[in-house]
Formats: sequence, C-alpha cells, structure tokens
Amino acid sequence: MTTTTSYLRSAKTITVILAVLATVLSLSFSGKSGSADPGIDELRQRYSSGDRNKWPAPDLDESVKAAFKDIGTLPEMPVPADNPVNDAKKELGKFLFYDPRISVSGQIACASCHDPQLGWGDGKRFAFGHDRKLGKRNAMTLFNTGYYTTLFWDGRAGSLEHQAQFPVQDHLEMNQSLAQLEKKVKKFKGYRPMFKAAFGSEDISLDRVFKAIATFERTFPVSPKSRFDLFVEGKSDILTDEEVSGLHLFRTKARCINCHNTGLFSDNQFHNDGQTLFGSENEDLGLYNVTRQLGDVGKFRTPSLREVTNTGPWMHHGNFPTLKDVVLFYNLGNPAPVQKKYLGIRDSLLPKTSPILRKLQLKDEEIRALLAFLQSITTTPRRLQPPVDFPK
Ligand code: HEC
Ligand code: HEC
Repeated sequence: MTTTTSYLRSAKTITVILAVLATVLSLSFSGKSGSADPGIDELRQRYSSGDRNKWPAPDLDESVKAAFKDIGTLPEMPVPADNPVNDAKKELGKFLFYDPRISVSGQIACASCHDPQLGWGDGKRFAFGHDRKLGKRNAMTLFNTGYYTTLFWDGRAGSLEHQAQFPVQDHLEMNQSLAQLEKKVKKFKGYRPMFKAAFGSEDISLDRVFKAIATFERTFPVSPKSRFDLFVEGKSDILTDEEVSGLHLFRTKARCINCHNTGLFSDNQFHNDGQTLFGSENEDLGLYNVTRQLGDVGKFRTPSLREVTNTGPWMHHGNFPTLKDVVLFYNLGNPAPVQKKYLGIRDSLLPKTSPILRKLQLKDEEIRALLAFLQSITTTPRRLQPPVDFPK
C-alpha cells in the first residue's frame, strides 16, 4: 500500500515537472515573452506608419545591441573629401571601367566581371579572368558598394580608390602591373581632355584613374527606392501580406536583422557564417587570411541584401544556386564543422560558427514569406548603356 502511494506521488511530481518543462520550452521557442505576434493588419499599420518607434522590437543578440542600427532607407552616399563627385569624373570613370585595353590581354575590363545586366556581378559561381583562369571567389555585386567601410569578402581594401588596384594586378584577373596601366592610359591621347574636365588638368596618374573609377562606382550602381522603402515611408498597400510577414520574420524569429541591418542591410562587420568549406579543396578562411588572428577564422563581411534576388549565385563561394537554399541553410543554424582526426596540426584553425546563428524552426510558409520579403528589397534591373567609342 505504502509503496503504491509513494509510487503515485512520485508519478505526480514527474508530471508536474514535465508540465513546467513543456511551458518553459514553448515559451523559449515562441519568442521572448511568449506573447503572440500582432496580426498582419496591425503589422502593416505599424511598419508603414513612417514612425520607427511604432515598429515591433527586433530579436537581437546581446552582442549586437550596442551598435545596432535598424533597417530602413539608404542614407546619402558618403563621398571622401579628397575625391568629390562631378559629371565629367563619373563619365571618365565609366570609360575606364569598361575599357578592356587596360588589361594585359587587352580583353578584360572591370565590366567583364561586374556586368550591370547580371546584377553588377557575372552570374557565375567563380569569376574567370586572364587566360580564362578561374578565381576562388564569387564576383561581388557592385550594387551600393560605396556604402561599405571595407571592401572584398575579407575586407582587405579600405576604400574604393584603394580597391581598384587589386583586380588590375591580380594575375587571375587583369594581370597588369600598375606602372603598365598608367603607361597605357597615357598612350590614348583621347583620354587627356577627359582627365582635364574631371580633374582640372590633363595630367594622367594612377591616383586619378582610381579616383575616377571609384566615382563611377559611387554613382551608377546605387539602388533606387525599392518597394520596401516606399512601404516604410508610408505607402502602406505596396507590399503583400506575405511580404509584410516576411519583413517581420526578418526582424524577429528568423534573426537576419542581427547582421543584415542598417539601410544597407549589412552591419559592415565580419561574421563566421559556417561557410569556410573547411578541409575541402575550396577552403577559404576569410578575414583570417588578412589578419592572421585565430578569432577571425572563417569570418566574411556581411553582404548587403538589397538587390539580392538578382545577384546569384550566392555567398563568397557561390555554392547556393537559389535563395531558398540560403534560407534553408540558416534554418539549420549553420552547424560548425565536426572535428576530424586527420586534420591534425590544423585543429587550431577549426572554424567556430557565430553564436548568433541558431536553429530557427521556420515553417514552410515562413520560409516563403522571407523569400517574398527579399524580393521587395530588389528593384527592377535598369540598363546602363556601355561606352561606344573608346578614346584613341
Ligand atoms: C576576373 C573577374 C574580375 C575583374 C576583371 C574585376 N573584378 Fe572586381 N571582383 C571580382 C571578385 C571575384 C571579387 C571578390 C574578390 C574577393 O573578395 O577576394 C571582386 C570584388 C570587387 C569589389 C568589392 C565589392 C565589395 O562590395 O566589397 C569591387 C569594388 C570591385 N571588385 C571592383 C572592380 C573594379 C573597379 C575592377 C576593374 C579595375 C574589377 N573589379 C575587376 C572579380 C573581378
Ligand atoms: C551572424 C550574422 C548573420 C546572420 C544572423 C545572417 N546572415 Fe546572411 N550573411 C552573413 C555573412 C557573413 C554572409 C557572407 C558569408 C559568406 O559568403 O561566406 C551572409 C550572406 C548572406 C546571403 C548571400 C548574399 C550574397 O550576396 O551572396 C544571403 C542571401 C543572406 N545572407 C541572407 C540572410 C537571411 C535571409 C538571414 C536570416 C534568415 C541571414 N542572412 C542571417 C551574416 C549573417
């Protein structure tokens, strides 16, 4: 009898413990306080109110809170004091950007890999350049590139003026020494009046070549207002219910906002997204290659998500052929690579995936909504007329 009672009592205790556990778990899965999200009509009203304070709170990691800036419209393009924009400089930059004669083969221009008709990238997994040699990274889109504080997937250039000398010299890209480049541009006399109009004198120098190209990049590949921008400015009926729900998921349950934030949809920071392809032929340790700091292994610069629908394939390795693949990858929480014995002495380089990433438990309809939202920050491609006659 006593045994049965105590058995029953402990069974009861277990049930109570299980019930408490279940409540705790369901609370932690359904968001911070466990309170339900506002309905779609209220979300629409709050996000399109024109007043940021009315937006629901974003789901932020502790590490992100201090420097956080929410998504919104793009600010004015920052321009360095020593390279002001003028129309003649924009035009000169456009010619230089499209001119293949400045590569060693005479065949490869910046525009070969950054084509406005292919989302300012090249539509390929890896770019090929001189002698059709294959590079190791996906050609980045130049959309909104002037808003970044560091350039390249691993941030190894600090400004657009500085960046342009890399592809010129890269033996897999244009394969051209800087001295040769200067000589070549000087050879085409037709460029002289263009330099005069842009800079005030006919002198041709590398500094001016790069300043003109940077000016082109700051002014042409800039996104016009997307439907998202018009929506948050007050045009409340321009997004579908699915897109509004995707916007809300982006800032809350799906946690994209932790890194893809500010008007650029990039925090301009580096994170390990779990994509080093560690131990494979295409292994890429990202920022670590530049800094040699162990903490930087596998970190890449957060890319903007504006125009993202048109800039595939995605990620520095171009391994994702659809955006759905990208979202499914995030849904898994991007597990870090498993330690394997044969890695031996390289174990200290084993990449650690950012703790900001976790399993998201997104349902199919939520994945669809996120994808719909990404479409709303992509604009209709505009054609850019390439220069017809290059200066002789
Ligand atoms: C052979 C293809 C190729 C050519 C030619 C090429 N690029 Fe690139 N570009 C790339 C690749 C690949 C990357 C990413 C490389 C990396 O992160 O290591 C890149 C990155 C960039 C970036 C960084 C964008 C960002 O958001 O950080 C800029 C800017 C850029 N290129 C401009 C140029 C300019 C200007 C030229 C001509 C002088 C040029 N590129 C020529 C393939 C090319
Ligand atoms: C921890 C920071 C972080 C979070 C959170 C995050 N991202 Fe990213 N995202 C990155 C980084 C870093 C890259 C570049 C990684 C690489 O190429 O190796 C990236 C790349 C991407 C790309 C590819 C862009 C391109 O131009 O190739 C897409 C699309 C993307 N993220 C969407 C999302 C979505 C959607 C979410 C939310 C479900 C999300 N990201 C959450 C940091 C983050």
